[in-house]
Parts: sequence; structure tokens; C-alpha cells
Amino acid sequence: MALLFLSKGDDPVKWSAALRVHLPDLDIRVWPETGNIEDIEAAMVWMHPPGELKRYPKLRLILSLGAGVNHVLDDPDLPPGVPIARMVDPGLTAGMVEYAVAGVLRYHRNFDVYERFQRESRWKKLPTPDTARRGIGVLGLGEIGGACAQALSAFGFAVAGWSRTPKSLEGVTGYFGAEGLKPFLARTDILLCVLPLTAATRGIINRELLAALPKGAFVINIARGGHVVDRDLIASLDSGHIAGALLDVFEPEPLPSDHPYWHHPKVTLTPHIASLTNPETAVLPIVENLKRLKSGAPLLNLVDRVSGY
Ligand code: GLV
Repeated sequence: MALLFLSKGDDPVKWSAALRVHLPDLDIRVWPETGNIEDIEAAMVWMHPPGELKRYPKLRLILSLGAGVNHVLDDPDLPPGVPIARMVDPGLTAGMVEYAVAGVLRYHRNFDVYERFQRESRWKKLPTPDTARRGIGVLGLGEIGGACAQALSAFGFAVAGWSRTPKSLEGVTGYFGAEGLKPFLARTDILLCVLPLTAATRGIINRELLAALPKGAFVINIARGGHVVDRDLIASLDSGHIAGALLDVFEPEPLPSDHPYWHHPKVTLTPHIASLTNPETAVLPIVENLKRLKSGAPLLNLVDRVSGY
């Protein structure tokens, strides 16, 4: 069995070394040096060229190098019936949780405002914020969103989560489905988006959603750029309804240098670094799935192509 490595963003040398620690005999082919395409039974991918994966007649498993799999499912020529596994890695999740906590604390403790005061040489104290009354709303309670919600709950915030289907997490008030969205938004001072990008969630952070947040709310997006309608977010920042936005993901990436986000005074942005996959830890679920593929055991972390995550 040969494994195809196909990613322009990930280092094939580091990944091959990490794989060989666990599977010393694994035949790894780094795209585009595929060798005989009939040998390829599994492919590790991030942003593959559309149509590429259907060229491998014996392909039995697609392993996403990202937690989000929209980059795989966006391919209109994806070979039908081949299982797709998302990346589930405690190291990746921990990085996302750190970023989410840093972002929430930044707004909660007014660091954005104090940064401005410093630039103006102003010595001014703002009222101490009440953690237990600060409503944090986590959109998406999957592997990563659930971990973010629980970490924020441990700080004493009033954390709620919204998901498509009901989920129950300790310390997190759950809302779900279309009817749960408005009441969830009404009690959210800081919104954290950790949704998968699907046909149902594309553009979810739009004018209507933003208007349903209380005045002065903040938005943090660590999911996908496609969740946000940029012009609606900018309009609500400009009107003062939304007080600030922390954005790690964009559409397209890299964010074009003339995009208004770059210089918007209420936007803080980072270049899709909320969590970077570390091959040493992230290789473990991949190795496990490759072993399962070989032995015929049930595969882990499989994606439902219909729901899109
Ligand atoms: C990165 O964005 C990922 O999906 O892991």
C-alpha cells in the first residue's frame, strides 16, 4: 500500500519522518512524484487540485490534513464512495483553545481599548468587567468548539453554545437549530465562530445575525472566511453596533493587500495561525486510520459527505 502526500502548505519531509516513526515501511509518495498511480490506496491532502483524487483507481481513504474538510468536499470531481477522515488532534485542538481564550480575554479585559489609550498617552481606568455576566457564544460545538466552550466556562464566563443538533456539555448552555439561533445571539457579548463551512453555514455571519447580537458585541472567527459576509461585518463595525472583530480566516487567503480589513481600526487579524498542525502529534490519528485501513477495522473521524462535516 502506498500513501500519497498532497499538500502545498505542509512539509513533506517532516510528515514523512513523523509517519516513519510509527510505520517504518510505509511507501510514501510526495505529489506530484506519484509513481504508479495504481499503488496509491490512501491520500493525505490539504487543498488538492480539483479532479486530482479521481485519478487514483485504488484510492480507499482520503485523510484531511485540516480539521475542516471543506477544502476536500469543494472538489466537484471527488471520487464517490471513498471515505474521508478529518484531522482530530489534541495538539491542534489545544492551539485553537489558546487562541480563542486569548481573543475573548483581550476583549473582556479591554486590551483593545487600552492599546488605543496608550497610543493617545491617556491614563484612564475603565470599570472592571464582570466575568460571570459576560455572555460568550460559541457557534459550533464540535471537537474544537466544544473544547473552546469548556475552557471558557472554566474561566467563569457565562458560556452558551449553538449547534445544528442538540449537544449537551457541562457548564455550557445549549441552543440548537434555526429556532435556537436568535435567543443564543441575544445573550452573546462575544461571539466565537468554530463552525464547519458547509452549504448551510456559508455566510452565516451576515447582516441579520450581526443585528441580532447586542450592541457592543465582539466577533471572533477561527473557522473559515466563508462564514462571514465581509461587507456586512464592516458595515456593523462602522455603525458601532459591533465593537470589534478578531479574524484568523479569510476568503480568499492570503487576504488581498487592498482589503479593508487590513487597516480597519476595529479589526485585529492574524494569517490563519490559530492552530498549526504539528506532525509529531497529528500523525497519530493518521497512523491509526492507516492501520485500520489495512486490517479492515472501522475507520475513525469520518466525514458525512451530505452534512459536509
Ligand atoms: C485548518 O484550518 C484546519 O482545518 O485544520
